[in-house]
Amino acid sequence: MKHWRIEQMDWDAFDASKVDPEIIPLIKAASVVERNGYDYAVYLANVFARDPDFRGATENWAVEEVQHGDALGKWAMLADPGWDYEAAFARYREQFKLELDVDASIRGSRTGELIARCMVETGTSSFYTAMADATEEPVLKAVCKQIAADEYRHFKLFYDHMHRYLKRERLGVIARTRIALGRVTESEDDELASAYHTTNEGSDVPYDHGRCIAAYMSKAIGFYQPKHINRVTSMIFKTIGFTPHGRVQGIAAKGVYRLMQARRRKFMRVMAA
Ligand SMILES: [Fe+2]
Ligand SMILES: [Fe+2]
Repeated sequence: MKHWRIEQMDWDAFDASKVDPEIIPLIKAASVVERNGYDYAVYLANVFARDPDFRGATENWAVEEVQHGDALGKWAMLADPGWDYEAAFARYREQFKLELDVDASIRGSRTGELIARCMVETGTSSFYTAMADATEEPVLKAVCKQIAADEYRHFKLFYDHMHRYLKRERLGVIARTRIALGRVTESEDDELASAYHTTNEGSDVPYDHGRCIAAYMSKAIGFYQPKHINRVTSMIFKTIGFTPHGRVQGIAAKGVYRLMQARRRKFMRVMAA
C-alpha cells in the first residue's frame, strides 16, 4: 500500500521562478537512484530467501522507492524541460550495475544487511528533509516532504527487522558500528557519482568518479543544516544501539557537521581545480 500517489500532488502549483538551479542536479541524480529500487528488492529477496514476511515487506518498499524516482523525475522535467528522465535512467542502468545474484548479504550477515539498509534510509530521510527545508518551490517542497516521511517509515521497517535478526545472530556493538559507518562512507562511492554523471553530464563526457562525487557532494552538503545532522546522528546511534538523544550524540552531531563542512571545502577545491 502506497501512502501517497504522484497524481495527488498539485503539479499545477509548480513555480519556475522559485526553482534554485543548484537543487536541480541533485534531484535528477536522486531520481535515477530511487528508480533502481526494484533491483535492490531482487537483491534483498535473495539475501532473505527464507523469510517470506520480510520479502513481502520489501516488495512494497521497492514500489515506494520507484515512485520516489518517478515523482522526482517528473519534477526535474518541469524544472528543466529539455531533460529526459527515462533516457537518463537508461543511461544510469547501463553504467551502474548492482550484483544481484547473491545467496548471502555482502555485509556478512542479515543483521548487517539490515543495518546497512537503516543507514541508507537515514541518509535519504535526512536528504529529502533538507531539500524540503531548502527549496521555496512549492511542488518540490511537498514532494520531498512526502518522500522524507516514506524514508523514515522505511528506516523503521528495516530497524524492526534488524532487531529480530539481532536476537538470533547476536552481532556485537563493534561489528554494528563498523557496518553502519562503512555504509555511511560508501555514499562517496560510485552510486551517487554515476547518478550525477548520467543525469547531468552529456554522453560525450567521460565518467570521472572524482569530479562527479565532488560536484554532487559540494552541492548536496550545502543544503544540510545542523538540525538535519543532529537527526542523522541520532538515527545512526539508535541503529547501533547507543542512546539516540544523549550528550554523546549531541557532541557527535556537532563533530559530524564540522566534518561535513570540511569535506565540502575539499570537494569545492577539487571543483575549482
Ligand atoms: Fe526513496
Ligand atoms: Fe527508502
